[in-house]
Amino acid sequence: MKTVIITGISKGIGRALATKFIGEGYDIIGTTRDGKYDIDKTGITILGLELSDPQSISRCANLVKSLDKKIDILVNNAGGNADDEETVLNIDKLRQTLEVNLIGTADFTEQIIPAMNEKSHIVFISSQAGSLQEMDHISDSHSPYHYPAYKISKCALNMYARTLAARFDKDKQDLTVSAVHPGWVRTDMGGDEAPTLPEEAAENIYNFAISRPVSGKFWFNGREFPW
Ligand SMILES: NC(=O)c1ccc[n+]([C@@H]2O[C@H](COP(=O)([O-])OP(=O)(O)OC[C@H]3O[C@@H](n4cnc5c(N)ncnc54)[C@H](OP(=O)(O)O)[C@@H]3O)[C@@H](O)[C@H]2O)c1
Repeated sequence: MKTVIITGISKGIGRALATKFIGEGYDIIGTTRDGKYDIDKTGITILGLELSDPQSISRCANLVKSLDKKIDILVNNAGGNADDEETVLNIDKLRQTLEVNLIGTADFTEQIIPAMNEKSHIVFISSQAGSLQEMDHISDSHSPYHYPAYKISKCALNMYARTLAARFDKDKQDLTVSAVHPGWVRTDMGGDEAPTLPEEAAENIYNFAISRPVSGKFWFNGREFPW
């Protein structure tokens, strides 16, 4: 049985993705901030993970290692947007957002890598908001100056994904690294007007995560997306 770790399965895309993987017969390790989860399913191990807390990250990674399972897929889904409707960069919110979306995510990933299978897939749920090229095509309602801390965090996360892919390539390690835009999804973060249901996003991410794409790329619905 293949094992997948998904961070942030309390709600939204993470919850839908965990449900999809369970339905497909995977062994799931899911994380929530308080280590609790409201789905009544077998085949899932829930661990506590607060990405802004280095001790929580180490505790969670050590618990994963103590399960003595080789991980086939790691989906770094957990993330936050502290910006609300900000257009001016708020430094406290930037610190807070980088701590979760970039530093905590990278710290957790680095600690999980030794537990990963030789041929495995690390997926970062990034965002179109982190694409530099997309800044030239953003409509008025999502102006280039909205959510600056969130945009910066996802852009930086993309660079982490690329450097990691390059490192595995240099070391001749057969791990695949991908950044994925999930679409505009109807969740607490995406809001009620988002056209894509979490289950639809989860279906796409699942199909992508179990594939073996070229490493070090940014993707949306199975197609390459501009960085
Ligand atoms: N929805 C969209 O339109 C959209 C678009 C592009 C990218 N994304 C990305 O997709 C991913 C999932 O987003 P979503 O829409 O499903 O959002 P969501 O419904 O708000 O869920 C976010 C998940 O991340 C967890 N999380 C937040 N901060 C955390 C922290 N400090 N430590 C550990 N876990 C934390 C949340 O846990 P709690 O329940 O405890 O808060 C929750 O499980 C995020 O990375 C987001 O940036 C979403």
